[in-house]
Amino acid sequence: MLVKVYGSAVFGVEATTITVEVNVDKGIAYHLVGLPDNAIKESSYRISAALKNNGYSLPGKKITINMAPADLRKEGSAYDLTLAMGILAASGQIKSDKLTEYIIMGELSLDGSLQPIKGALPIAIKAREEGFKGFLLPKQNAKEAAVVNDLDVYAIDNIKEVIDFFQGEKELTPLKIDTRKEFNNNLENPDLDFSDVKGQETIKRCMEIAASGGHNIILIGPPGSGKTMLAKRLPTILPPMSLIEALETTKIHSVVGKVKEQGLMNQRPFRSPHHTISDVALVGGGSYPQPGEISLSHNGVLFLDELPEFKRSALEVMRQPLEDREVTISRAKFTVTYPCSFMLVASMNPSPSGYFVDENNPSTSSPFEMQRYLSKISGPLLDRIDLHIEVQPVPFDKLSEDRRGENSKTIRERVTKAREIQTQRFSDNDKVHYNAQMSVKQIRKHCALSDASKTLLKTAMDSLNLSARAYDRILKLARTICDLASEENISPDHIAEAIQYRSLDREGWLG
Ligand SMILES: Nc1ncnc2c1ncn2[C@@H]1O[C@H](COP(=O)(O)OP(=O)(O)O)[C@@H](O)[C@H]1O
Ligand SMILES: [Mg+2]
Repeated sequence: MLVKVYGSAVFGVEATTITVEVNVDKGIAYHLVGLPDNAIKESSYRISAALKNNGYSLPGKKITINMAPADLRKEGSAYDLTLAMGILAASGQIKSDKLTEYIIMGELSLDGSLQPIKGALPIAIKAREEGFKGFLLPKQNAKEAAVVNDLDVYAIDNIKEVIDFFQGEKELTPLKIDTRKEFNNNLENPDLDFSDVKGQETIKRCMEIAASGGHNIILIGPPGSGKTMLAKRLPTILPPMSLIEALETTKIHSVVGKVKEQGLMNQRPFRSPHHTISDVALVGGGSYPQPGEISLSHNGVLFLDELPEFKRSALEVMRQPLEDREVTISRAKFTVTYPCSFMLVASMNPSPSGYFVDENNPSTSSPFEMQRYLSKISGPLLDRIDLHIEVQPVPFDKLSEDRRGENSKTIRERVTKAREIQTQRFSDNDKVHYNAQMSVKQIRKHCALSDASKTLLKTAMDSLNLSARAYDRILKLARTICDLASEENISPDHIAEAIQYRSLDREGWLG
């Protein structure tokens, strides 16, 4: 008998429905066609054991399985359950009348229990789009699939439940979540708040500006000065994610099978890969392409701690995606694109020795060592970082004070207000959403300076020996500072503040 069952394949962040045709006939053979990879080819062993252990069997007949569309590569072990149900129905061991109404996926253990799959959210989105009634999948991924309303999502523990369900012997209750309600829940992160950081008022102000204009930022300071602590709290002052952003980000995490049990992610991601990370793990890729850290940071923050320690090649491959806000991976037969719109926060020690260069202390790094250290980060990547700020450790008496600073919520309200001004400003442009993304032309248009501001900027550039590349960055920053103050025109005060945040442009650093 011939039956059809449905599974799904994920490419990039989108799913494609896979039709699995199973035919059981006289003879003895097992043919699996339609570009399956090794994991799928091995499925017969898992299926055989899982069926045996639940009172069913792989029939000793000629089993032919075709996975369509035939020209699309299918990968991974998530089709175990799809194939198993197809075989059971095609061999008459179970009823087949309702099978085609569902997407069925899951990896089988030998005892018939289910292992989690990747891409549950994109698969659920596609299933609803194509009018499937429901989606049966391992319970570990059910909540992430149930984000899609109007689709019956069943959290499955064991193949026996699926069999009983199609046999009509057991009712299953679909998992329902009110996505909107869930989304509006727990917006505050109780573990991380800016009020935990003592002192550091200048740095906090600097991070508020970065968050407001979407500016990339680098924190320069000795070990223990609080760089990591500060960076981790940046997502808490960014404007809350919209439902669309939350879905985009959750989709990417779903593709790598990393959605935590909350289902929809309603807090901006914070990713901090170690500096030994490979280029592929950072930007995405591989023979079966997977999104990298830059995409897992989508709509959130990517923190590169100890920036100069990263391989030069890794920093190089990040340049284009930073600009384009998406990364495209091409293979001979297909191309996938992953979004990667993130804020970059980097940190570094002021010198290879870890501390600010001190003329009175000869044990600190030599100019040659300094130059080698900084040469790694100079150039194109640094060109995309608008704010440089030096972080000095907070003195003990400040640290031991009880007084708490402003909390993240208060700062976030100001940031959100400044973002609204920018949304308005760029409302006729669908590529640019905030000040950091302004092109040279837009800088000329939106950052016009009064004579007084111009004079100040010129004097500063000359006396502080600021490099030419600093010029546009200062204008962008000044625009954000001006927006934070809800003012229309950039004033000399805004310019003066922006100039402070360009440490690495001054003589003695990158010169
Ligand atoms: N301003 C601060 N307020 C409160 N604790 C701080 C502050 N700065 C540093 N610390 C403490 O010092 C620890 C080390 O800071 P960390 O962020 O790891 O420094 P860095 O990344 O610069 O090496 C933090 O976990 C925190 O406990
Ligand atoms: Mg650190």
